[in-house]
Amino acid sequence: MDAAGPAGVQQGAGALGCSQEASPRPADSSGLVQECLQQFKVTEAQLQQIQASLLVSMEQALRGEASPAPAVRMLPTYVGSIPHGTEQGDFLVLELGAKGASLRVLWVTLTGIEGHRVEPRSQEFVIPQEVMLGAGQQLFDFAAHCLSEFLDAHPVSRQGLQLGLSFSFPCHQTGLDRSTLISWTKGFRCSGVEGQDVVQLLRDAIQRQGAHSVEVVAVVNDTVGTMMGCAPGLRPCEVGLVVDTGTNACYMEEARHVAALDDDRGRMCVSVEWGSFRDDAALGPLLTAFDRTLDRESLNPGAQRFEKMIGGLYLGELVRLVLVHLARRGVLFGGCTSPALLSRGSVLLEHVAEMEDPSAGAARVHAILQGLGLSPDSSDAELVRHVCAAVCTRAAQLCAAALASVLSRMQRGREHRALRVAVATGGRVCEQHPRFCRILRETVKVLAPECDVSFVPSVDGGGRGVAMVTAVAARLASHRRLLEETLAPFRLSREQLAVVQAQMREAMAKGLRGEASSLRMLPTYVRATPDGSERGDFLALDLGGTNFRVLLVRVAAGGVQITSQVYSIPECVAQGSGQQLFDHIVDCIVDFQQKQGLSGQSLPLGFTFSFPCRQLGLDQGILLNWTKGFNASDCEGQDIVRLLRAAIGRRQAVELNVVAIVNDTVGTMMSCGYEDPRCEIGLIVGTGTNACYMEELRNVAGLTGGPGRMCVNMEWGAFGDDGSLDALSTCFDASVDRASINPGKQRFEKMISGMYLGEIVRHVLLRLTSLGVLFRGQQMGRLQTRDIFKTKFLSEIESDSLALRQVRAILEDLGLPLTSDDALVVLEVCQAVSQRAARLCGAGVAAVAERMRESRGLEELAVSVGVDGTLYKLHPHFSSLVAATVRELAPRCAVTFLQSEDGSGKGAALVTAVACRLAQKTRV
Ligand code: BG6
Ligand code: GLC
Ligand code: GLC
Repeated sequence: MDAAGPAGVQQGAGALGCSQEASPRPADSSGLVQECLQQFKVTEAQLQQIQASLLVSMEQALRGEASPAPAVRMLPTYVGSIPHGTEQGDFLVLELGAKGASLRVLWVTLTGIEGHRVEPRSQEFVIPQEVMLGAGQQLFDFAAHCLSEFLDAHPVSRQGLQLGLSFSFPCHQTGLDRSTLISWTKGFRCSGVEGQDVVQLLRDAIQRQGAHSVEVVAVVNDTVGTMMGCAPGLRPCEVGLVVDTGTNACYMEEARHVAALDDDRGRMCVSVEWGSFRDDAALGPLLTAFDRTLDRESLNPGAQRFEKMIGGLYLGELVRLVLVHLARRGVLFGGCTSPALLSRGSVLLEHVAEMEDPSAGAARVHAILQGLGLSPDSSDAELVRHVCAAVCTRAAQLCAAALASVLSRMQRGREHRALRVAVATGGRVCEQHPRFCRILRETVKVLAPECDVSFVPSVDGGGRGVAMVTAVAARLASHRRLLEETLAPFRLSREQLAVVQAQMREAMAKGLRGEASSLRMLPTYVRATPDGSERGDFLALDLGGTNFRVLLVRVAAGGVQITSQVYSIPECVAQGSGQQLFDHIVDCIVDFQQKQGLSGQSLPLGFTFSFPCRQLGLDQGILLNWTKGFNASDCEGQDIVRLLRAAIGRRQAVELNVVAIVNDTVGTMMSCGYEDPRCEIGLIVGTGTNACYMEELRNVAGLTGGPGRMCVNMEWGAFGDDGSLDALSTCFDASVDRASINPGKQRFEKMISGMYLGEIVRHVLLRLTSLGVLFRGQQMGRLQTRDIFKTKFLSEIESDSLALRQVRAILEDLGLPLTSDDALVVLEVCQAVSQRAARLCGAGVAAVAERMRESRGLEELAVSVGVDGTLYKLHPHFSSLVAATVRELAPRCAVTFLQSEDGSGKGAALVTAVACRLAQKTRV
């Protein structure tokens, strides 16, 4: 055949083209027709090959394999369940791209009652050709205009209008209302839309229009609307098939098989986008010269090759090309063509449908052909009918092969269990071609004999399904609003943080002057940092963090060597009697000495005691009050060193020489200061939080001034105990505080440190559950359990490397089974709570650094902060947020953060070493 010329443009329009003068039909005309139509024949083996090859492509795309590029896209649609039938409400639906050049607006009412359907109102608009091929903005403005025309013409409620967009092109969705167009297909090619979020484009256009306030809450592919609108019947409707202008299908895939998803439970509707399928081995032999010409002349040559053999936009065109070819061979129309026949797009899908329908009768075929300016004779009509049938049969068979691969895929995904499924069919080809559907069904039966499939026509052309998805999306959107409202108080602005910083500065100044202040600003009697000349073996104790430790610290010329052992302090001991606690501590020391072969030696001992103490000297510290989880009786108001010595006395066997008592912040600062002399701030963000820094001696009340500096333990955990933080405090903070062992105390600490963040999260989750945002509104018993959320979980949940599925695994381990939406909510709650903590902590450090800079009269201050604590160290983002906040609030201070590697026990030993060195010096 003459495959070269694009049949539509060879001859000038207006002329009646005849291949020969008053041609008699060639003798071999039926042979020519046979030969021509033979090309559209597809064997069962070929169909099976397509089925197999498409299945390979689908699975490759599901696995996320990029190379070789899979021939289909397998796009997640974020529709996770088929309808329950309980969705209700009124929804607007805007349909773009499903039915060629027509745009539909619908008003769909979902009653929430099974079987009760309200007829939707709808209006169709023709999209002008220049809009389909023009600028993207023009297309979306046109859509917004149609919408507003519809709303003006129909008496529907104007309140809270929610819209679902049916957008039938391949899109990357990242949520129910976020969808980026990958590429135009079918008859559309608007500039500036590919790569853009089409939901946003529509929202912008509606806003530009300004006539109505409509919220776009969901976007779906037409296949999804088709599937979702299907009435729940005997078998689950888990496939949506569309054959309209284009063709495509979606189906419910097991989420665990979709690599692009974070979630591994349940199912997700995946749009196959099979229109783009091309596999040279499988499809190549089937491509006729007509297919090649059609592709060459299309808007998207080379793309959507499979769709171009099936979709309604192309069937008429294929028929036209065959008719032109046969006319030119003298087989049809006396060898004559017509300008209309030679014009692209003149044979419509409707024509093909009618002409191949045997019940239509020859007169109807004649009429259509005459409408195309042709003069058919009696046998022409019959031949044309054959042509239409051949083109459509092939289309239906290819479509069946594709559908069979989807069914095979579902069966494989479900471990080959017998598949009973309903396929919702939509689109004009399915709806208007009885033969197409029949062939489709028969062929599917042959290709997928093991699947029990029924076919169900779509409702309201898919509009109802779009409304269903919109209903779900609207519910999710309202959940999002509630979530945002709940978390808003945790999101502190720069101004709020600057206020915290200023309040902290003021409280510091007052505390140092000895005036009433929530910051105690306790002198530590640590004045000198190690100078490297210290030597000897020291014991250290470290009490008050996650672990109680006993350490042997060897300070030698080559550096510091540490041996340590962790001992547990049971809660009953931490909250029992003081005597019991200190006896336990001494028992641990004795055990350690024995294990280390140190029994009988009286090594100098440094005691890291991470609680607020009023120190009267280096080895004298009066516990002001317990904090964190400790509450041992008869200790507050007592000298801790004396209590320890008394316990040692009770345990006659040991001899210990307690030289220094040190707060963990101080120990950390000293430990880091051994490496970096600029380390003049110590910070702890662990079970509790606190900071110390080197203050000018002249500023420390109660000490005989003089030159030099002294380390001051701020005890900033208590910041805000005078009510100054109340404006920032949320009702969740109040609940955590109320339930703590020290209500009203340590308010700053309770917003920041590891001991409390999990509890704050738990209280927020309880609230979200009561609002119906989490756990489908069902209160989980486990969530009522205090302290089930450890800081560790916050750190794990927020770790970037953990996908949401692991977040769920963590929570399931806690006995909290969540859906993927729930997991996302939990993650956001954790983020909001830990971000507030980090930013408040940063505001504190900024206050300290700025005070140091000013009191030293410096333009710029360069200072290092020694930091320790499980939250700071384990949380993936905490440290960088603290640093960023400090940069923001103290721009004239260059603050470097050093993580302490050896714990503050090492620092306590170093303080002891320095004290021993100085003592020796005085003796000399
Ligand atoms: C450790 C110190 O390194 O950090 C402890 O040695 C301190 O004394 C602790 O309390 C803080 O962290 P956490 O997370 O254990 O409270
Ligand atoms: C095209 C589109 C696809 C749509 C189908 C049917 O193939 O790319 O998204 O589902 O047409 O309208
Ligand atoms: C608590 C203690 C404080 C300690 C901090 C960090 O706030 O009161 O002394 O430094 O926890 O462990």
